[in-house]
Amino acid sequence: TVDMQASIGGVPVVSPVLTASGCSAFGQELDPFFDLTSIGAVVTKSVQLRPRSGRPTPRMAETPSGMLNSIGLQGPGIDGLLAEDLPWLAQRGVRAFVSIAGTRVEDFAELAARLRGVPGVLGLEVNISCPNVESRGEVFACDPVAAADVVAAVREVADPAQPVYAKLSPDVTDIVSVAAACAEAGANGLSMINTLLGLVIDPDTMRPVLGGVTGGLSGPAIRPVALRCVWQVHQALPNVPILGMGGIRSGLDALQFVLAGASAVSVGTAVFNDPSAPARIHAELADALGERGFGRLADAIGYAHRRP
Ligand code: DOR
Repeated sequence: TVDMQASIGGVPVVSPVLTASGCSAFGQELDPFFDLTSIGAVVTKSVQLRPRSGRPTPRMAETPSGMLNSIGLQGPGIDGLLAEDLPWLAQRGVRAFVSIAGTRVEDFAELAARLRGVPGVLGLEVNISCPNVESRGEVFACDPVAAADVVAAVREVADPAQPVYAKLSPDVTDIVSVAAACAEAGANGLSMINTLLGLVIDPDTMRPVLGGVTGGLSGPAIRPVALRCVWQVHQALPNVPILGMGGIRSGLDALQFVLAGASAVSVGTAVFNDPSAPARIHAELADALGERGFGRLADAIGYAHRRP
């Protein structure tokens, strides 16, 4: 059997497989399908300071190769999360990796402060890359300086025991420069990638399907883009932990991310077709590593970069 012990920014976790933010809310919906304590963590839907209703419906569209969403950061706000959702997870011994979002640097810092010392909170995923916002200026991950400002502000006030990961966007010319700026600003790891802005038009109505017109593309369509981002960043910054995501739906998909340099992976869109996908992918990844002669997950991280 393969040693699947993994780590998120230095904090040990039982599995390198996590959920992906947004695709399973706060974990409750997946609970009937598999043991949530068997995965590394539930990555929660991005939370903001105040509750939000999000963008006009419809907010989901299918394409043959992936899904588009224009949710627009709908959610309960930090008070609701602290009162209801995080206690629900903590009572069951499920680790939460809490995704935080905001429109100003101070919003992120305040959220990080509110999450200090909260039981069960493994760490913070700083969502600076949601494409469903009103202006490009709100996508901090588009600019290395803006991204670093958010990361530094969060790292300064966050619980020292909670690793801080910056979630990056694929929609940049040089993801390595954004990654390097975040690492320099104190990020303990990087989550890659958020969705890629796309559009679907209904040929019958001849109008955009989504109420918000554009939406973030996820699923198998973006997997090679995500894998390329992980590869480039690991090549440039081999000591920065990477949580890889983008269209992972099998153990062999997850394996590719590990070989490219991810030390853990998130499973998002795949849960809509298979709610137990995270547990299945953990088992499939363990088998795939064993079949290739690895005794430990850790030995496979970044393997594809090494000379034969
Ligand atoms: O695709 C996404 N949708 N990425 C995000 O970061 C947020 C989410 C939303 O709420 O629109």
